Amino acid sequence: MDRSIDVRSDTLTQPTAAMRSAMANATVGDDGFGADPTIQELEVRYAQLVGKPAAIFVPSGVMANQIAMRLHTKPGDTVITGRYAHVVAFEMGASARNAGVQFALMNDVDGYLPLDEVAYAIEVEGDHQAAARAIVVENTNMYAGGLAYPIEQLRALRASTSLPIHMDGARLFNAQVATGISAAAYASHVDTVMSCLSKGLCAPVGSLLAGSQELMEQGRIERKRLGGAMRQAGFLAAAGLVALDSMVERLAEDHQRARRVAEAVEARFGDTGYRASLCETNIVAFNHPDARGLVEQLEARGILAGTVAPDRFRLVVHADITDDDIERICRAVMEL
Ligand SMILES: Cc1ncc(COP(=O)(O)O)c(C=O)c1O
Repeated sequence: MDRSIDVRSDTLTQPTAAMRSAMANATVGDDGFGADPTIQELEVRYAQLVGKPAAIFVPSGVMANQIAMRLHTKPGDTVITGRYAHVVAFEMGASARNAGVQFALMNDVDGYLPLDEVAYAIEVEGDHQAAARAIVVENTNMYAGGLAYPIEQLRALRASTSLPIHMDGARLFNAQVATGISAAAYASHVDTVMSCLSKGLCAPVGSLLAGSQELMEQGRIERKRLGGAMRQAGFLAAAGLVALDSMVERLAEDHQRARRVAEAVEARFGDTGYRASLCETNIVAFNHPDARGLVEQLEARGILAGTVAPDRFRLVVHADITDDDIERICRAVMEL
């Protein structure tokens, strides 16, 4: 049988040769003492890309989100976000455990928070209900199938409230490449923003959180409290610099390939309402009553995909997936 094709996640990407070489040659120091020049360079680079004064390097996207939760809230506060947001559904209750917050959940099937629902969730404070103290948006929205947050919705959300907004931009650069709207333009509407280096950008480990100088100083303390302060992690930051400097434009290839799979899915499963136009970036996700069964059938054909709910299928295209792999996936989809 042909080699198996793994499209369970874009986190599966292997570091590139340029990353391996940068890591081997990185100048490192103890970041606990502020002495790792490669980490500092990476933090400055990301802060510039998202137009914020400061940034911190953290081990994972979840930790970046969790630090943001702790920066913007106190235990007992309500956080407004999407029903299917990563910070709610895919972090094992971390926000309840680490920040002691509860969520007001908006209907985010289209990848953004409906403004009327957000306004209502804020207004209920006047009716003896818990006060909302922060908002989390996700860009691109993973569960919605990698949809970029509509910029006019983001602008209107920002204009509608003074609550702090955190952007889970695990795949913010996919949004930038798909829409032509810069990461900084997206981030100009939020207070804090995080992005992952270890997904489509192919770095082995790491995420970045950016915001004001004051918030990031506090963020360093929260990072320490969560056990995320690393020492000679400049080895990882070196790969991260390669990711930010040379891997962003490449994401367009993933998007084109994912669109071809999306067209096959529309051809085979159009009755579910799925349309290829719903694939804006590198994720193909659609509802099917037996999503897990579809995953099993694909596995029998040497293709590893996944589910994000019993009735929601997901596959994620990434740098290690070739045009030939895409042809095989499309053929297999048509056989399901
Ligand atoms: C939207 C989103 N946010 C956050 C994360 C968390 O990233 P990490 O796996 O680095 O903790 C992910 C990971 O898949 C994600 O898809």
